[in-house]
Amino acid sequence: MESLTFVLFGSTGDLAKRKIFPALYNLYLEQKLPRTLSIIGLGRNKFSDDEFQQYVENSLNTFSRRKPEDHASVAEFISYFRYYGLDAADKEGYKELLKLVESREKELNIPQNRLFYLSVAPEFFDVIALNIKESGLGNTKGWKRLIIEKPFGHDLKSARELNEKLSKSFEEDEIFRIDHYLGKPMVQNLETLVAANPFLKALWNNQYIANIQITASETVGVEERAGYYDGTGAIRDMFQNHMLQMLLMTAMHLPTPITPQNIRNQKSSLMKSIRRIAKEDVAKHVVRAQYTAGKMNGKPVVGYREEPGVDPSSMTDTFIAARLWIEDFFWREVPFYIRTGKRMAEKCTKIVVEFKDPLQDLQGSKAAPNLLTIQINPNEKITLQLNGKNLLKNGEMESINMDFSPASDNIPEAYELLIHDAIRGDASFFAHWEEVEQAWELVQPILDAFEENLVPLETYPAGSYGPEASDRLLAEQGFKWWQDE
Ligand code: BG6
Repeated sequence: MESLTFVLFGSTGDLAKRKIFPALYNLYLEQKLPRTLSIIGLGRNKFSDDEFQQYVENSLNTFSRRKPEDHASVAEFISYFRYYGLDAADKEGYKELLKLVESREKELNIPQNRLFYLSVAPEFFDVIALNIKESGLGNTKGWKRLIIEKPFGHDLKSARELNEKLSKSFEEDEIFRIDHYLGKPMVQNLETLVAANPFLKALWNNQYIANIQITASETVGVEERAGYYDGTGAIRDMFQNHMLQMLLMTAMHLPTPITPQNIRNQKSSLMKSIRRIAKEDVAKHVVRAQYTAGKMNGKPVVGYREEPGVDPSSMTDTFIAARLWIEDFFWREVPFYIRTGKRMAEKCTKIVVEFKDPLQDLQGSKAAPNLLTIQINPNEKITLQLNGKNLLKNGEMESINMDFSPASDNIPEAYELLIHDAIRGDASFFAHWEEVEQAWELVQPILDAFEENLVPLETYPAGSYGPEASDRLLAEQGFKWWQDE
C-alpha cells in the first residue's frame, strides 16, 4: 500500500476523538496502514506536537480497542502525528501548511499522496476545498482525495451549489462522501448475502417478495443538537441519506464485474427508478410526526417542543415513514416501507424482507409469511422465519426461526472500514454525487409539501413505535410492521 499524508481538518473535534483516531489506530494494529505515514492534525486550538500526540493518546485510551499493555504500538502510532493551528479561511496559513506537509514528505521519503479529511461543519467545505487548490496543497505529484461527511446541502439547490464549488478543486472520483451507514458491516454484507446465496438470489424479486421494511429507530431525543436538528428534521438527517442508501443496498442486484464504477452505476440507476412523489401526493405516501412527552425505560421525558433550544411551535419532523416503489423489472409492485425516528421504543436498525405466502390460495392456511430479518444495529443478526409442522401439536403449522449472529468481538467499526477504503482508493461504499443529487430530487417535493403544510404533523409519545398513521401506510396493502416486542 502506498504511503500518504493524512490531513485532518477539525482534528480537535468530537468525531476525530471518538471515531477517526480510534479507527486509524485499529487499522494500524491490523497492519492495514502503509508502513510510513504522516498525519497532520489541524484546528483552531494552539497545540504543540507533543500536546497533540498526548491528546490523540487520550482519545485512544477512551475510545479504541487499545489494551493497557499496548505501550509500544501506541507510542509508535502517535509519533506519526503533527499539529498545525489553522483558521479555515486564512489563505496564508495554507501556504505554511503546504511547507509542513512537504517537509514531512521529504523527511519520511514518501510520495505526494494526500488525503484531506474535512471533519468540520459543512459551511467550511467549499472554503477549505478552494484553499487547498489555491495554496498548491492539491497540486501533488501523487494522488489527492477529499473525504467529507453529510450533510451535503440542505436541499436540492444548495446541494448542487456545494457540489459545483467542490468540483472546482476536486474531480468526482477524488471525492469520498461518507455515509456511515454504508460502513456498517451488516450493510456491507447485504450484497454478498444475496449474491452468494442462490436461494436468496433467485427469490430477490417481485415474484416472491411481498414487501420490504427498513427501520432505523432511535431511543435518544434531540440531545444537545437542537440548533442543527430543528432546521433539519428526520427527513434530512436520516431519510435523504442513510435510509435511501440502505434501500439501494437492499434492492441492488450485484453488477458483474464488481467494480466501484459498476456499483455506482447500478445504485444510480436504481435511484432513478424510484417513483417520484408529486408534492400534492406526498400526504398519501409519507407520514411525518413529532414526539410528545412520554416514558423511556420507565422514566418520564419531555416532548420535542419542550426540549432545550427547540422552537416551542416547531413543525420539525422527528419521525418519518414513507412508502416507496422501485419501477424496474425486479421490483415493480413491491412496496418498500421506510421509517426512522427519535425517542422510539428501541434502538434498532433492521431490514425485514417479507416473502409472499405460497399457500395464500389454500383455504384455512395458517402459514406465517417467511421473513428474512437483517439486524444491522445494535446486535448484528440474520434471522430466517420458516414454517414447519409441530407433530406434538397435531401437526399444526408453526414458525421456525433460524438465527445467525456473527462473532461480535473486534468487528471493525464503520469508520475503520471506510477510512481503509478511502486510503486504498476504493469508492464502492461511498455516496456518489449522482446518487446524492437524485436522493435530493426525490426528497425535494416532500420537503416542499412539509413546508407548505400539505402533510399533517402527527404526534407519537416518546417510547412508542411512532404514530398510528405509520401503521396505516402498511395496512393499506394488508401488511404490518414486523417488530420484536
Ligand atoms: C447521524 C444522525 O447521521 O446518524 C444522527 O445525524 C443519528 O441524528 C445517527 O443519531 C444514527 O447513527 P447510528 O449509527 O447510531 O445508527
